[in-house]
Amino acid sequence: MTEGTLDVAIVGCGIIGVNHARAIALIPGMRITALVDEVPAATERLAALIVDELGGERPTTHAEIEAIPDGVSVVVICTPSGSHVELAERAVARGMHVVLEKPLDVSMARGRRLAEIARDAEARGIRISVISQHRYDPGAVAVAEAAHTGRLGRITSAVATVPWWRSQEYYDSGAWRGTWELDGGGAVMNQGVHTVDLLLWFLGTPVEVFAHTALLAHERVEVEDVAVVTLRFGSGALAVLHATTAAFPDQPVRVAVHGAQGTGIVENDQLAHLWVDGETIDRTADWVPAGHRLGDERDPQAFADGHARQYADIVDSIRSGRPSRVGVPEALMALATVRGIYVSATTGSPVRIADLIDGTVDDSEVRTGGIA
Ligand SMILES: NC(=O)c1ccc[n+]([C@@H]2O[C@H](COP(=O)([O-])OP(=O)(O)OC[C@H]3O[C@@H](n4cnc5c(N)ncnc54)[C@H](O)[C@@H]3O)[C@@H](O)[C@H]2O)c1
Repeated sequence: MTEGTLDVAIVGCGIIGVNHARAIALIPGMRITALVDEVPAATERLAALIVDELGGERPTTHAEIEAIPDGVSVVVICTPSGSHVELAERAVARGMHVVLEKPLDVSMARGRRLAEIARDAEARGIRISVISQHRYDPGAVAVAEAAHTGRLGRITSAVATVPWWRSQEYYDSGAWRGTWELDGGGAVMNQGVHTVDLLLWFLGTPVEVFAHTALLAHERVEVEDVAVVTLRFGSGALAVLHATTAAFPDQPVRVAVHGAQGTGIVENDQLAHLWVDGETIDRTADWVPAGHRLGDERDPQAFADGHARQYADIVDSIRSGRPSRVGVPEALMALATVRGIYVSATTGSPVRIADLIDGTVDDSEVRTGGIA
């Protein structure tokens, strides 16, 4: 049991680091006392925002995790995706709880290594949580509950689409964006991993994926801007996933889960429809009251609210000693699914997810555009 205020360090003070600062400001019993970034101007900008906008005390600023003051108990990692595991290891070595931004990392070798470290760390009372804020949206919670309690009947299929637009300026805005080494993929890894994670939460363990990917509307990018995927799950359920950053203008993200007794549909993070128990009456308002609408994630406060919902779970897990709802095992399965999609698109063959989890299939050489 951890009592008292939890002192937090944010590592990586870019776009999402700012969002974590806004979210943590909403959580009683947490305060940001240290900031780390390899670019001093980034720590300075976020320190000023914490004092001027969020009413916090000025945190100390550092270039390395090793320089974080000893009293800090939670390290939040908000750096480019390919650096997540290495930085998490360094925080765990200091005995600190870790919150990692999604995705877990970009390579299965590093993902497996963190899974081992996490098993040992959890046994020593160190919690490692991975951000997947949409698992905490009331609409997604309703669909998961209906699916897991059998109210949808046998789950038969799902259709998920992430039809977004990202400009060339977006990809040009950071040297790491759109690279295999640090972004680890494109429309599926960066933008679509939330939706992949929801599919896995709703439908269970994925068995096999088959995918095509392509780069069609951007330049100076190594990764895909469009992907289409079929997935087969351990329950027998089948799903299709479409993810793109080349659909102008942004269209709603949608996940539809179909069962023999009902259907649940999440659209733009809200519950759009829910039929349960073999009845043809739409029960949406019974599961998520009509007045309960989430804000648009493009609004900074609504974006922070999403992360704050997950922080409430993370803080409770640290204080009570139970694992958090989204930890390394869940994030490793989502990573294996995304990397499996890239291996399949590269080889032109279906890929078994278990082979990525145990390392039988190597994901280190993947390409956009599939087999030549
Ligand atoms: N959960 C979400 O909805 C969500 C949204 C956006 C981004 N993300 C994730 O957050 C991560 C960061 O994305 P971003 O858009 O904030 O990127 P960004 O480029 O805006 O910020 C990254 C920051 O990390 C710093 N940095 C890089 N390497 C570092 C290191 N080794 N040590 C310390 N600092 C380092 C950079 O200087 C930069 O300030 C990515 O993994 C991304 O997938 C999640």
